[in-house]
Amino acid sequence: MSARQALSSWKKLNQLAKDKKTQHMNTLFAEDSQRFDKFSIELPRLLLDYSKNLIDSETMDSLLALAEETQVPQWRSKMFSGEKINTTENRAVLHTALRRQSDEPLIVDGENLTEQVKGQLADMEVFVNKVRQGHWLGYSGKRITDIVNIGVGGSNLGPQMVTEALKHYSDNSVNVHYVSNVDGSQIVEILRPLNPEKVLFIVSSKTFTTAETMTNAKTAINWLTSSSFDQKAVAKHFVAVTANKENAMSFGIDEENIFDMWDWVGGRFSLWSGIGLPIALDLGFEQFTALLQGANEMDEHFVNAPMKDNMPVIMALISVWNTTFLGSQSQAILPYDQTLHMLSAYLQQAEMESNGKSVSWDGTEIDYATVPTIWGEVGINGQHAFYQYLHQSNNVVPADFIGSIASVTPVAGHHEILMANFFAQTQALMSGVDEKQVRADLKAKGRTDQYIETVAPHKVHKGNRPTNTILLKRIDPRTLGCLIAAYEHKIFVQGIILQVCSFDQWGVELGKGLASKIHNELESDANLDSHDCSTRSLMNYYKKETKKSSLPV
Ligand code: F6P
Repeated sequence: MSARQALSSWKKLNQLAKDKKTQHMNTLFAEDSQRFDKFSIELPRLLLDYSKNLIDSETMDSLLALAEETQVPQWRSKMFSGEKINTTENRAVLHTALRRQSDEPLIVDGENLTEQVKGQLADMEVFVNKVRQGHWLGYSGKRITDIVNIGVGGSNLGPQMVTEALKHYSDNSVNVHYVSNVDGSQIVEILRPLNPEKVLFIVSSKTFTTAETMTNAKTAINWLTSSSFDQKAVAKHFVAVTANKENAMSFGIDEENIFDMWDWVGGRFSLWSGIGLPIALDLGFEQFTALLQGANEMDEHFVNAPMKDNMPVIMALISVWNTTFLGSQSQAILPYDQTLHMLSAYLQQAEMESNGKSVSWDGTEIDYATVPTIWGEVGINGQHAFYQYLHQSNNVVPADFIGSIASVTPVAGHHEILMANFFAQTQALMSGVDEKQVRADLKAKGRTDQYIETVAPHKVHKGNRPTNTILLKRIDPRTLGCLIAAYEHKIFVQGIILQVCSFDQWGVELGKGLASKIHNELESDANLDSHDCSTRSLMNYYKKETKKSSLPV
């Protein structure tokens, strides 16, 4: 048995989970009219209601005891003070330093990170203003109208998700586009309507080795230089954000066009750094600063609030409860705010790349479930696609419902309908409807006995499906910063409790290495015997078919 499972709080929770699996939330609500007051947290910009989970005060006390026993507060201090808690890469984890509002020095390895961060923010501001005000000119002397960010994973999802969420705040000084896929059709379609004289590319790659990003960046350089007929044009149209300055320079990017990244910023936590440049270019530096301030507000809350009132801690404990103790295998992220339509894709990387692991800090196999599959879609679209499954399948999928009290683009009558659905869904998922009620309803509608007999079982909703509700006051840079930081810290706390190394991502390396070998083999006559017969046959078929001239066009 692992050390985690031997903890007294863990054992208690296992016991409680057995009882809770036999209970229905309807009973818990009937027995305790104070559940909302007990199980919700209100902060200035957002409210979390976690009362619609299979919990009671004893469950929460035991979960909080687990957080204490696993030393969450101590690990939190280690993270914020710059201890190297990313042990497999021997790095500090300090994305919080990127949005720190204090001028106090933060010293790590003898370097004052506060100074470095402030320095970079100042450089970013100068650059952003220059581009937005039309002082940064392209090779033919024209102002920049379009920004194309080339990057993938953490160098794409965060900035793109935020750009989409905050569109309302853009003054359209520039248009921002994102290229992430090495499938050429994406970059071709994005570049097709653009004028190379007016485009600025940002090559965003912490490592500056990611094959997909490098390939897209090369294509972009070719596109530019085939229009300018001058390699020197690259200096006016390309900037990079990277921790690998050397690679960026040998790639052809001017030294003064390179924004630094630090090894203490993980890719999936990097939108607050230079990786956030497209956000700042789109919204202006003031709004970018507000985003950072919002995230810092959540950092302060995470550091200072007692564990029982601490939003990210509670979000993590509920996730661990639902997954590790109650056995759910996936979790849906369901925004009822169109601006957040990329949130689930963003959180997929944030949570699954961080905690989707099966060995413990000391390298031993983990003998309990870690994190669920994160998936989701804008709520209303989901309702007409997969909510059938959420309501009636045999798998229980806990879900986060995220809505806004005020819409950023109010249109008469729309928001009320949206929010009516928002509230209805969590109630329906919890309460369900039993067969007795279904039969009574059908009878009241005048249905025949035969019809009722046939249809009633299909209309039963067992309910008892856990949800969290997050209500934002309104989407704006501060509130969004706050929301993202809440999820970041949730993921951190999950990682501590589950004892996984949240800040590395070794699991993506095997596939990357193999892809590079296969790439060489597809382009040569290399012997394919090292592959299994399925992969080898598929590669041979592909090679044979690509040589034919009669491929469908
Ligand atoms: O392959 C996964 C990953 O390493 C992510 O962790 C990262 O966000 C992404 O690739 C992009 O990496 P880079 O910024 O170094 O190009």
